[in-house]
Formats: sequence, C-alpha cells, structure tokens
Amino acid sequence: MREQQKDTSFDAIVEAQKIAFAPVVFQATMSLRRLGILNLISKNRKGISIENIAKETGISEYGVDVLLEMAESAGIVQQLEDKSYKITKVGFFLNSHRMTTVNMDFINDVCYKGLFHLEEAIKEEKPAGLKELGPWKTIYEGLSKLQPDVQKSWFDFDHYYSDDAFEQALPIVFKHKPKWILDVGGNTGKWSMKCCNFNEDVKMTILDLPGQLNMALKNAKENNFEERIFGHEIDLLSEKPVMPKGADAIWMSQFLDCFSKPEIIKILSAAKEAMGKNTKLHIMETYTDRQDFENASFCLRGTSLYFTAMANGNSKMYRAGEMYECIMKAGLKVEEDIDNVGEFHTILTCVKA
Ligand SMILES: C[S@@+](CC[C@H](N)C(=O)[O-])C[C@H]1O[C@@H](n2cnc3c(N)ncnc32)[C@H](O)[C@@H]1O
Repeated sequence: MREQQKDTSFDAIVEAQKIAFAPVVFQATMSLRRLGILNLISKNRKGISIENIAKETGISEYGVDVLLEMAESAGIVQQLEDKSYKITKVGFFLNSHRMTTVNMDFINDVCYKGLFHLEEAIKEEKPAGLKELGPWKTIYEGLSKLQPDVQKSWFDFDHYYSDDAFEQALPIVFKHKPKWILDVGGNTGKWSMKCCNFNEDVKMTILDLPGQLNMALKNAKENNFEERIFGHEIDLLSEKPVMPKGADAIWMSQFLDCFSKPEIIKILSAAKEAMGKNTKLHIMETYTDRQDFENASFCLRGTSLYFTAMANGNSKMYRAGEMYECIMKAGLKVEEDIDNVGEFHTILTCVKA
C-alpha cells in the first residue's frame, strides 16, 4: 500500500512538472515546427543527426540540440543509438495534423502573450490580455485590424471548426425552405456564400460590426453575390439592438459563445422581436458536455480561457443546458436538437414559445 502511494505521488509530481514547464515545451515545439526541423526529422524516417539538421536548416548545432533535448523529454522525438533523432507519433501529429497545427498557431499568435494577463482578466472580468494585440474593448472590434499573421491564425482557427459543420448544417437549415436568412455574426461571409451556392434563390443579410461587415461584403462582391448577400451594420451589445424583421430563418453560428449569459438573453430577445410565427432560429455551437471525446472538451475549455483573457472577459464555451436556459428566458423554445453536426457542433432550432 505504501509503495503504491509512493508511486502515485511520484507520477503526480512528474505530471506537475509537465505543467510547470508547459510554456517551454510549447515554445520549443513552435520553434521546431516553424524552423522546419520537425518536418526535416519527419522526412528522415531512419533518423537524422544534429550536425545534418544544422547544415540543412542553417541553425546552430547548439540551437538544434537544446530544442531536441526538450522535445525528446516531451515525447516529440526519439534519440536513436547512433545519436540521430527520429519523429514519434506525437511529433508527427504536431507537425502535420491540421487540427493540431491550427490550435497551436491560434494559441501562439493570438493568445500566448495575452494569457500572461489571465489573472488580471479573471479579477477584473475584462479581456486584460487584449492590449497585447491592440487598443480595443473586445477582440471583435479589432478583428479586421489585427496584424496579418495574427489575423490569419484567428480566421484559420474559427474556420477550421465551422467549415466542416457548415456542410452538414446546410440541409438542416434548408429543409424548411427559407427564402431570406439573417446571418448574425456573419464574419467573413463564408456561411452566406455557402447558402447561396447551395440554394439558387435564397437571399442573405449579414449582421455584424462595421469593420467585419465590410470584410464580409467585400468577399461577397468578389464572389459575385452582391445581389443576393446584403449587410446590416449592428452592435448587438448596444442599448436596444434591432434586427430586420420578416426573415424565414435566423442563423447564429459560433456566435453566442462570444457573450455572457445576460448578453445572450438580450441578443436572443432581439432575435425574438424580429421573428414571425414561422421563423426558425438556428443556433450552432460547440457544447462542452456534448462531445464524444474528452479531448474535445479539453480543447473547448482551453478556448473558454481565450474568451476570458483575449476576447471579451466574460464569455465561454457553454454546456448545452446553459444555452437552453437562456433560450427559455428570451421567450423562445427549442423545437429540434441535433448533435454531431460536423465533429463537434450541435444545432438547436428554436421558435417563439
Ligand atoms: C466567432 S465569430 C463567428 C463567425 C461565424 N459565424 C462562424 O461560424 O465561423 C463571431 C462574430 O460575431 C461578431 N460580433 C462580435 N460581437 C458583436 C457585436 N457586439 N455585434 C455584432 N456582431 C458581433 C464578430 O465580428 C464575428 O464576426
């Protein structure tokens, strides 16, 4: 028994050190990836020496050595008997698995510096880390003005998770034969353009903040959709936001997670005001308690802290029950609840209660 306790503590101490050094491992991995070293090792399946890596990348042997020693301890590479290095399965995925690289780029480029201010963000309920990116109250005001590499990582992250779900969401939304859809928080206009490609009659109105709306309408125009995709500038956090009335459907994708629960109730109430008795409101979100794999919940909970430190200081990835409560408080009810849209999403289709 004592032996077992000792072992458990030993394992726990090992796990604790992984957390203590997590930022070092993360930055070492980013460097190995962006310097092309992981790729080089990945291509040399039988192993490659530090000297040859240094020669091929132009990085000093010292630099290659310190990075690879850390990577070996983290299980990313393995040193062979002849001292050369080969990639492990974890290293392979860190180098080339799309979800992993998208997550890493987002954490590095958008969140890393700002997360240093997490404690302040929690205490003040403000996105205290956002000052590392720009002088905005929320990240959404600054999305269209982010540095190009930061903006790319933000959009890659957002689109990676919605793109796949969009394909499966189209038949769900169009089974009700909508002719006019409001795309609330339409962002780059991707969903609106997908709808126009899916159905040749539908008209779309994108609702978003001014900077983002301009970007969406520019994209729509470049894709020859200017006669079917319209814009409606709106700040849904303003005192009394008014959405256009009379649409057949209102679409909110990866949108309500950008707000606190009282704000969600306010936005859903504004949607209710715009809805007729046959209007469907489709809310597509990723819920922490609707995931098939623990790892997906882990990623979503990590994303919640991006909202805390960087985005707005008061929102998160919610549990489905929390959204149901907001829907009910706004005077709406869920008519249909569909899980497994794409890999991680749920669509709640709501009508007036
Ligand atoms: C996470 S993105 C969602 C993107 C898109 N719907 C998707 O599924 O990929 C959130 C969008 O909400 C918009 N947004 C954030 N705060 C807003 C506000 N107060 N009023 C209107 N739009 C807002 C942002 O500009 C952004 O385009």
